[in-house]
This record gives sequence, C-alpha cells and structure tokens, in this order.
Amino acid sequence: MKQLIKKKNIVYVIGGLGLIGKSIVKAFLQKKNRVIVFDLKKKFNSKNFKYVSLNNLDLNSLEKSLKFAFTKYGSPNILVNASYPKTSDWNTNSYKQIKAKSFSKNIELHLNSFIWISKIVADEMIKKKIQNGSIINLASIYGLLGQDPKLYKNIKNMSESLTYPVIKGGVINSCKSMAAYYGQFNIRVNCISPGGIFDNQKNEFVKRYIAKTPLNRMGDVKDLTGPVLFLASKEASYITGINLIVDGGFSII
Ligand SMILES: NC(=O)c1ccc[n+]([C@@H]2O[C@H](COP(=O)([O-])OP(=O)(O)OC[C@H]3O[C@@H](n4cnc5c(N)ncnc54)[C@H](O)[C@@H]3O)[C@@H](O)[C@H]2O)c1
Repeated sequence: MKQLIKKKNIVYVIGGLGLIGKSIVKAFLQKKNRVIVFDLKKKFNSKNFKYVSLNNLDLNSLEKSLKFAFTKYGSPNILVNASYPKTSDWNTNSYKQIKAKSFSKNIELHLNSFIWISKIVADEMIKKKIQNGSIINLASIYGLLGQDPKLYKNIKNMSESLTYPVIKGGVINSCKSMAAYYGQFNIRVNCISPGGIFDNQKNEFVKRYIAKTPLNRMGDVKDLTGPVLFLASKEASYITGINLIVDGGFSII
C-alpha cells in the first residue's frame, strides 16, 4: 500500500474523531499528508492534525466552517466524509417507534449535510483548479440492501432503521450524479459501503451477523483504510461514481 498515496495532499476528514474516521485520519497521517479534521466537539487539540469544529445541523454554518478552513489551512484535494450525524432519539428510528419529526430531522442532518459538504468542497476544488480531486463519502451496505429485522430481534437497543437506508441510498445515488457533473473538472466522487464494523456489539448480534457473512467475521476499521487510500490516490484516477463495497461478502448472499 506504500506507493498508493503520496504525501503533500491536503486531506479533509469530516467526522475524523469517530470510530472509522480516526483510523482514516491515522492512515493519511502515516503517509505524511496534511490532515484537517472536522467534528462536533467545540475544541480538540492534536499535535498531528489541525482541528475545525463543524456542526452538520445547518448547511449555512457548515459552509462557514469549511470556508474558514479553506482560508486558514488550504483547500483540500481529498475529502473523506466519515461523519454520523444523528438526533438524540436515533435509536427510536425503527418502523415501530419512529416519529415524523425524527425521520425528517435525521434526513436533514445526515443526507443533506453529506451532499452539501461534497458540493462545497468540489466547487472549491474547481475554483483552485485542483487536479484529480477525490471525494469519498462513507455510505453503507444498507444503502443498497434491505435490513433483516431478524438480526436485531430481542437485542436491546438495536433494531432496523426506517431512516438509515433512505439516507445511505441517497448518498450512493447522488455520488453518481455528482461524479457525472464534476468529471469535467477532473474531480472524482466515490462512495465506500462498509458492512457492520465490530464495535463491541452484543454477542448474539455478532453471532447472527457472522452467520450471514461469507468471510465469517464482522469488519474492522482497518479494513476500510486501504480502500479509502486507494480511491484517494492517483492509482484510482479513472475511477469515479462507484460504490466500493467492503463487507466480507455480506451483500452477495
Ligand atoms: N460503524 C459501522 O458499522 C458502519 C457501517 C457502515 C457505514 N458506516 C458509516 O460510516 C460513517 C462513520 O461511522 P462510525 O461508526 O465511525 O460513526 P461514529 O459515530 O463512531 O463517528 C461519527 C463521527 O461523526 C461526528 N458527528 C456526529 N454528528 C456530527 C455533526 N452534526 N457534525 C459533525 N460531525 C458529527 C461524531 O462526533 C463522530 O466523531 C457513518 O457515515 C456511518 O453511517 C458505519
């Protein structure tokens, strides 16, 4: 993987303090890139990267945070969005419990912000005449598959979500139309769709999940860094509009 990504890129990672975001940040830093992390916390200090507080709550303030970063830290040639914006009642987005307000708010928070961040960054790449700009959005296998409610049955605090597949389906499809539009400016837009990543879920859930996965395990955050580095690199310079599925085969059976 050494040759995949050269140093001197300016990489923006949205949600860079999260489970997946952290390992993506680490992977880019190991390749000596300049990384700017955006996340919810008001303040965060790191000796390895610059940090910008960003709240996906409203598109105007989000735009402001990005523009601040363009001026202060330079415009990115790579964007990875690994944020997971959600309301405090996100766990009640099951078919049985969901309320209309939560449905709308989570679409606004997650889907709208993903699309808007990609657009603001792509437009900045055009403005600065950045070549081979690469935008990578974290989607999910549930942007292309239905969720099996049997996976979650009788497991506390886990259920299918009415909203999540809507969001991630939107992220995957808009990635294609963005790629079609921004291709003329040599900007690539791709998605990565992970399967379930192991994060100390209940044993029973893990057992059921593994039974549906040909590679016989849940994903690890490290499984995603190679695919991200690849899509960000020059080696992927003819790849745009794809949804790279990284799921141990979960979606093939
Ligand atoms: N973990 C998985 O199993 C899995 C599987 C498939 C897809 N994904 C996708 O990968 C992405 C990252 O998932 P994760 O598991 O690392 O999530 P996470 O919750 O661990 O991290 C998400 C990060 O986003 C930040 N964030 C939340 N709300 C925000 C807001 N309003 N504005 C800015 N930042 C905000 C959080 O502070 C956090 O640091 C998500 O888009 C998720 O849908 C995750």
